[in-house]
Amino acid sequence: MPSYPYVLLSAAVSLDGYLDDTGPDRLLLSSPADFDRVDEVRASVDAILVGAGTIRADNPRLLVNSAERRAARTAAGKPEYPLKVTVSASGELDPAANFWHTGGEKVVYTTEKGARRLREDPVAADVVALGDDLDWRELLVHLREVRGVERLMVEGGGTVHTQLLRQGLADELQLVLAPLFVGDPRAPRLFGPGGYQEGRLRLVETRRIEDVVLTRYEPTAPGTGVLPAAADRHWLALACDLAAECPPSPTAFSVGAVVVAADGTELARGHSREGGDPVVHAEEAALAKIAPGDPRLAGATVYTSLEPCTHRSSRPTPCARLILAAGVRRVVTAWREPDTFVPDADGSGMLTAAGVDVVVLPEYAGRAAAPNAHLAP
Ligand SMILES: NC(=O)c1ccc[n+]([C@@H]2O[C@H](COP(=O)([O-])OP(=O)(O)OC[C@H]3O[C@@H](n4cnc5c(N)ncnc54)[C@H](OP(=O)(O)O)[C@@H]3O)[C@@H](O)[C@H]2O)c1
Repeated sequence: MPSYPYVLLSAAVSLDGYLDDTGPDRLLLSSPADFDRVDEVRASVDAILVGAGTIRADNPRLLVNSAERRAARTAAGKPEYPLKVTVSASGELDPAANFWHTGGEKVVYTTEKGARRLREDPVAADVVALGDDLDWRELLVHLREVRGVERLMVEGGGTVHTQLLRQGLADELQLVLAPLFVGDPRAPRLFGPGGYQEGRLRLVETRRIEDVVLTRYEPTAPGTGVLPAAADRHWLALACDLAAECPPSPTAFSVGAVVVAADGTELARGHSREGGDPVVHAEEAALAKIAPGDPRLAGATVYTSLEPCTHRSSRPTPCARLILAAGVRRVVTAWREPDTFVPDADGSGMLTAAGVDVVVLPEYAGRAAAPNAHLAP
């Protein structure tokens, strides 16, 4: 399964939801202290991305302005400035724009057509062509695997934010609400029309900064099929946290599980040996809390820190079969079952053979295994 960077969307909007006005100059929505907060976030990431539209409209530099923060980056062995990234299908980019002549390394992700155009009219950046169309997952995998980007800050504009959120690729949205109105329907909005996740996002923070308010949200809706979404990572992390709450046992794994509906509503959670039951498994405990036949189960995802069991001596029905019987068709897990108790257990294989989409996110395997360190052979 490919891994992506952590993707943080950052934007400031007016009270009527606009990113800018239609005047020639950039509309300053944030307050001075909030610009400093943005500088701090920039200093914490490996790369900053904006769309070509923002380069054209604002001619931004996208620097870490604080000398102390840059010094801290170099002291930590990082480049002084985060990598600057832009996307353009057309390749129509002004070689004189500030973006190319300030800060550290730059990369443009584009199409074959855009790359041809950039060979004729080059900019001071690496150019990566991703085929006839630009696929965001391919771009994120390239950033992670080729450029080593683990945290990516996306600073707009609306076209880019809308795509990343709608495709389930944004881990976090940092939204600043500024106390002013734009009132011009020709001005750009943060999010365009289209299909977003159903249900509610998770509000993780609100912070007053002078006269603006920072709100931070996480998406909650599981991905679909075998493609992981950012929200899958959050729910799997919760399952791993639940595993750490299990009373340890010398004869069974400590596992956490969460069942989440398609709209991001948590239906139930459970962990091994919960409620004083010495043999209950995490998925079993969670599913037992949902009424059989609940119509949300068919579109739900089960998150489990360890892949569901296929054999167990404690009870007749293994968890993989309980999941199938519940009608769940998607499972996200962190850790394939080691041979500790059952040789060659393959819960993922059994579920896949039965038509369930199984997503394994091995980057969480360490967190899933940690509460089971006492079982190590
Ligand atoms: N308030 C804030 O926090 C904030 C932050 C940033 C920007 N803004 C404002 O937002 C406005 C710009 O937003 P915008 O939506 O017009 O532009 P944008 O999102 O910055 O850039 C859009 C451009 O990026 C490229 N692009 C986007 N998705 C692509 C894809 N899937 N494949 C290939 N290329 C892709 C295209 O470039 P090509 O046209 O070259 O093909 C597209 O025209 C400006 O007014 C700016 O001031 C505000």
